[in-house]
Amino acid sequence: MWMGIDVGTGGTRALIVDERGKIRAGVTAPHEEMRMERPLWAEQRPENWWDAAVEAIRGALAQARVSGRDVRGIGLSGQMHGLVILDQEHQVIRPSLIWCDQRSQPQVDTVNRTVGRANVLSYIANPVLTGFTLPKLLWVRDNEPERFARVRKMLLPKDYVRFRLTGEFATEVSDASGTALFDVVHREWSSQMIEALALDRSILPACHESVAVTGAVTPSIAALTGLAAGTPVVGGGGDQAASAVGNGIVEPGIVSCTLGTSGVVFAHMDQVSYDPSGRVHTFCHAVPDKWHVMGVTQGAGLSLQWFRNQLAPGTDYDALTREAATSPPGAQGLFWLPYLMGERTPHLDASARGGWIGLTAKHTRADLIRSVIEGVSYSQKDCLDIIEQLGVLVRSVRISGGGGKSPFWRQVLADVLVKPVVTLETQEGSAYGAALLALVGTGAFTSVPEVCRNVIRETATVEPRAAESTLYQDGHSIYRSLYPALKPVSQRIARL
Ligand code: XUL
Repeated sequence: MWMGIDVGTGGTRALIVDERGKIRAGVTAPHEEMRMERPLWAEQRPENWWDAAVEAIRGALAQARVSGRDVRGIGLSGQMHGLVILDQEHQVIRPSLIWCDQRSQPQVDTVNRTVGRANVLSYIANPVLTGFTLPKLLWVRDNEPERFARVRKMLLPKDYVRFRLTGEFATEVSDASGTALFDVVHREWSSQMIEALALDRSILPACHESVAVTGAVTPSIAALTGLAAGTPVVGGGGDQAASAVGNGIVEPGIVSCTLGTSGVVFAHMDQVSYDPSGRVHTFCHAVPDKWHVMGVTQGAGLSLQWFRNQLAPGTDYDALTREAATSPPGAQGLFWLPYLMGERTPHLDASARGGWIGLTAKHTRADLIRSVIEGVSYSQKDCLDIIEQLGVLVRSVRISGGGGKSPFWRQVLADVLVKPVVTLETQEGSAYGAALLALVGTGAFTSVPEVCRNVIRETATVEPRAAESTLYQDGHSIYRSLYPALKPVSQRIARL
């Protein structure tokens, strides 16, 4: 048996798979709500991720009715970009500013001024964005200097769980790529960025390829979790790279779309190349010596979750999508802008604001829900369009994440993207990918593409429908005109 652990935003999931990649158990322990002290701020407690990981590990072992000694290796995956800082005693200094936290625009501006925008792009193959880890660290330096002075280690979310499991300070290339401190082309920490910003290199963890063994479960953690002491823990991946492994996006041709809290369109690259305007991210893949490109919608599942929590409390997502299906395609001219946490692709704008446009007295709640699903799908189309413009061949789109479980959303996505949307036998995404990386890292398979070819199977395909696709092409063009039209207003609101 092998275990994949994914430290998500909503919860931590532990999954147990056998040597053929069949799932034997899967348990999610929910996290506390993210704390949003101000609009566009988002924090979570790393200690809460660890408690959830312990609960999920114990739960998965019990569900599979296996002992820790049966687990031959563990892979980790997790929400990317979050800043975890530890002091001399290895205690967490402050709650993590997580991936969707947008407070660090002033620090992004400082980096662009001091290092130079063009230099940044040549050092890390990406622009610095508010979502990335570096500006979050600099925010702490600028706003909480006493806390910053105590920083001895900086970790990413899953790597904090790794530290608690193994005692090692380590990360791997796919997650390190999202820090803005990583030389994505040469797959190592960027000395140029570190020196240009006068940062202390010793706070960074050792960085490995994703299939490398980074440490082993310690005896005290074995006693706490039921795992066996000495169980190897491989690098794993940032949740998007790990999810791509779980979806078999490890060779050119197929693209994935993961509709979790965020929404991500992801493509494999054999050779590294990047968007000169930085609208999509070029990061190292969890496949050794390969890269990927991805476009990110900040508020994908988050849009529907927000809708449910605020406007339909207690309603489950199936009921919401059933209701949405009673509204006609186009939601009677209603548009949803999913910019609840600013936006990355294609706008790279932390001050972007969400909202409905086109609302009339005739609209029903069903139209509201449908427009949310369509708006998020338009935003994913923005991502796919740029990826195709980079010359990536896209025959079909493999879907995963919570939103991908809805047949209604899958059809809307196929119609909007005008691509076949394919479901897989295993829709576990990141945790599954992490477990597959553990299978490779412990020698059960020789490579990531090999394990994927052996265990991943497509089950169903939703084809785009002609009439709906035509309507959505018009809809997408209207949707695309809304962000630039509203930009000056959003900026004024952000300054309020
Ligand atoms: C990817 C990203 C999100 C988080 C949370 O760049 O920010 O997908 O990893 O899932």
